Amino acid sequence: MQTKVKGVNKTDFIVCMTDGSKPIQASLAQTPEIVCSLLERGGIIYFPQTPFEISASDREFLLAQKQKEADYHKNIAYRPKEDIVTGFAAKTQVDAQRLHSIMADYHNQTTNFLRSFLAPYANAWEPDFATFRPIEEKGRKMSLRKRNDLIHVDSFATRPIYGDRILRTFTNINPTQNRVWKTSDTFEHLLETYKNVMAAPAPFKSKNDRQSILTRLYSMLGLKAVGTSPYDKYMLDFHNFLKENGFFQSNCRKDTWEFPPNSSWMVFTDMVSHSVLSGQYALEQTYIINQDDLVMPEKAPINLIKKAYNLK
Ligand code: SIN
Ligand code: FE
Repeated sequence: MQTKVKGVNKTDFIVCMTDGSKPIQASLAQTPEIVCSLLERGGIIYFPQTPFEISASDREFLLAQKQKEADYHKNIAYRPKEDIVTGFAAKTQVDAQRLHSIMADYHNQTTNFLRSFLAPYANAWEPDFATFRPIEEKGRKMSLRKRNDLIHVDSFATRPIYGDRILRTFTNINPTQNRVWKTSDTFEHLLETYKNVMAAPAPFKSKNDRQSILTRLYSMLGLKAVGTSPYDKYMLDFHNFLKENGFFQSNCRKDTWEFPPNSSWMVFTDMVSHSVLSGQYALEQTYIINQDDLVMPEKAPINLIKKAYNLK
């Protein structure tokens, strides 16, 4: 008999390891804790058939949003806390409402699913934006540090996360075209290689005093936090360093992953170095996972950096 996690047949996913080791079948990832540990080690949890239901008419609506690339300078994003969609130049009010309801639904479905599938994280996670990505990635014109076809680890752009983790859940809604990624070594491996050419970070603050009074006040008022933290600065510098390093981009070990229409995948994008080479129309939901809830805290970038530079 097959194990079920809230309606999902556990044999329906495969864990693709990005460190060059063989993929792991779901039968060997029987509990949420094991799934979390594989994610934290740099696995991509891949569902050939998405566990999320997106109706044919919702898909058609999303695929019809063919505005010019210039209209999409900002990501189209659903902000769950404020329950609004930003970055979308809707032609009509009806279109705006429809997009809002589709994206809110993707947010709700991923939340409900991950709450049991990745149960250890659900206590104190912070849902971040859901995004709709309607631009063809192949040949997309972006400034170098924004280019997603260059291999990088993600840093968090909108506010400091002080060592919490970036978990992203993607779904390819393109009816015919794969979304193609290349990944290279994990952050753990890349940090070992490059720690001596990167400037060491300023000491990290302890978790209790990590947020300044001003930042807490901003957060209580629902405003965007100002400034950054030594951890966030280091991760952004690392992100930029990888994108600007032509030798690394050309010569690093690479794996190619083709995510076909109607598949989903989950990944810690601060651990898995990645790039997207081609593909159009994807939905994505980001969660910020509290570092205290990790199953393998020793694999968290913040702890790897502390170890690499002998920080407390
Ligand atoms: C990225 O996070 O670099 C982009 C991934 C994607 O849109 O497929
Ligand atoms: Fe990225």
